[in-house]
Amino acid sequence: MTRKILQMAVLIGSVTATGWLLADSHKHGESKSLPQVSNAKWAAECSSCHTLYHPGLLPERSWSKIMSGLDRHFGENAGLDPLAQKEIAEFLVANSADHAQNRRSAKIAQSTPAQSTPLRISETPWFVRKHDEVRNDVWKRPKIGSPANCTACHNGADKGDFAEARIKIPR
Ligand code: HEC
Ligand code: HEC
Repeated sequence: MTRKILQMAVLIGSVTATGWLLADSHKHGESKSLPQVSNAKWAAECSSCHTLYHPGLLPERSWSKIMSGLDRHFGENAGLDPLAQKEIAEFLVANSADHAQNRRSAKIAQSTPAQSTPLRISETPWFVRKHDEVRNDVWKRPKIGSPANCTACHNGADKGDFAEARIKIPR
């Protein structure tokens, strides 16, 4: 009898503690942002034409395919010298959605069908679901242009920050 009561007390105690932990991480939004990552070559070479896309937004196979076709990259030649290409590819793979230890990357990795290798973040099922409330004509506004222009609406996108509170859609 006393043992049962003790077990109950332990159970209630741990449930309460978990509740506090969840409330705390939610409050700071930490569970939702991507971890800080950095590589000087990546930051320099992959930000001149568009948002610096966080590696945790695509699975390893996608980055590998993108990095092996840079001379024909979405209609542009983004080719690099072999050393820079290798260093950036390794950095992207190491921090890709299937290797990163965070909830958002895990969700992206899980929701991307194993037989598909998306070359665009904006075409992953995860992205489409998260943005289903953005109307078609909104993507085409002059200040946005395309779904690939993350920083148009997410101020901190190039740092992996997509907090809802900081989303601002340009008119
Ligand atoms: C010479 C310009 C240029 C450079 C340099 C460049 N890109 Fe791109 N990239 C583009 C264009 C253009 C698009 C298509 C953008 C659009 O649809 O609005 C694109 C699209 C992408 C997309 C898909 C975005 C989406 O979700 O729709 C990824 C991922 C990407 N680039 C990764 C990279 C990486 C990694 C590097 C560095 C190795 C890089 N890019 C360097 C021009 C460039
Ligand atoms: C037209 C503006 C716009 C553009 C461009 C845009 N987003 Fe979003 N994004 C939104 C809106 C609106 C939401 C929905 C927020 C909500 O659910 O309340 C959202 C949600 C998100 C979320 C989920 C936030 C959360 O807390 O659940 C992520 C992550 C995200 N976007 C990443 C991206 C990435 C990566 C790109 C570029 C490849 C991008 N977005 C481009 C407007 C945009």
